[in-house]
Amino acid sequence: MDTEFKVIPLTGSLGAKVVGVDLANLTSDAFDKVRAAFLEHTVLVFPDQELTLDDQIGFARRFGTLEIHPIVNGLEEKPEVIKMLKPAGESASFGVGWHTDNSFFEEPSMGSIIYAQTIPPHGGDTLFASQYVAYERLSDGMKAMLGGLKAIHTAKDAYTSDTAQEKYEGKTAITYRWSDSVLKEVLHPVVRTHPETGRKALYVNPMFTTRFENMTEEESQPLLEYLFKHCTRPEFGCRIGWEPKQVAMWDNRCVMHYAVDDYKEFERMLYRVTINGDKPV
Ligand code: SIN
Repeated sequence: MDTEFKVIPLTGSLGAKVVGVDLANLTSDAFDKVRAAFLEHTVLVFPDQELTLDDQIGFARRFGTLEIHPIVNGLEEKPEVIKMLKPAGESASFGVGWHTDNSFFEEPSMGSIIYAQTIPPHGGDTLFASQYVAYERLSDGMKAMLGGLKAIHTAKDAYTSDTAQEKYEGKTAITYRWSDSVLKEVLHPVVRTHPETGRKALYVNPMFTTRFENMTEEESQPLLEYLFKHCTRPEFGCRIGWEPKQVAMWDNRCVMHYAVDDYKEFERMLYRVTINGDKPV
């Protein structure tokens, strides 16, 4: 690797491109720099990486244990790897909509690491929004009110839709298996404190958050709608395009993301591994 290690910010709110690093052969010093960049920028893009699946898994394991998704099937031989294949001619449906990965778990995912393989000639970008900045831009009154609230997260809407049904039936490239976690409801604070940085982040998302604790969906809707609109404001975000061999990783404890479905005629394929997280506080 002849280029010097550099972290180049993507926007004023989050995201950075990292160059001069070989993720398949990371010294502990280089790993410490990557980890520091991850905590500071929350979304990292690493162009042009030569990785096997074992390298991708090995890199992810340096951050923590890996998740085997209870609903989305991983590779048979490596269940911690999800092959995100969207065949040409089909609409994208995985990750399409603002969310943080698996906020419907008691201990939601800490981070996700994607390695791109087949990328459409245009389209198929991923959007990110900093939930640190979303929280920081609220008024003191709103921060004080949200600080006392908890919200219900559940996969029931996302994982029982018509498109999800086809995945349980095995008719699609990504397949699902039924599990109790589809209908489970879990409670998380609306504002969480990041366990490593100590910064506060908004922690609700339109894919999985359905209502506030001790309130009906109808009662919760006006404030949730406001928060969903607020937390994805363009000033809080960045948009990344993909290239084959590009790695991207993000911190689900303080970032939401959205896979853009605008490349129906083309194939897109990426491998994802997900790092286990802890209970939001
Ligand atoms: C996801 O992991 O939610 C999807 C990301 C993507 O396909 O860009």
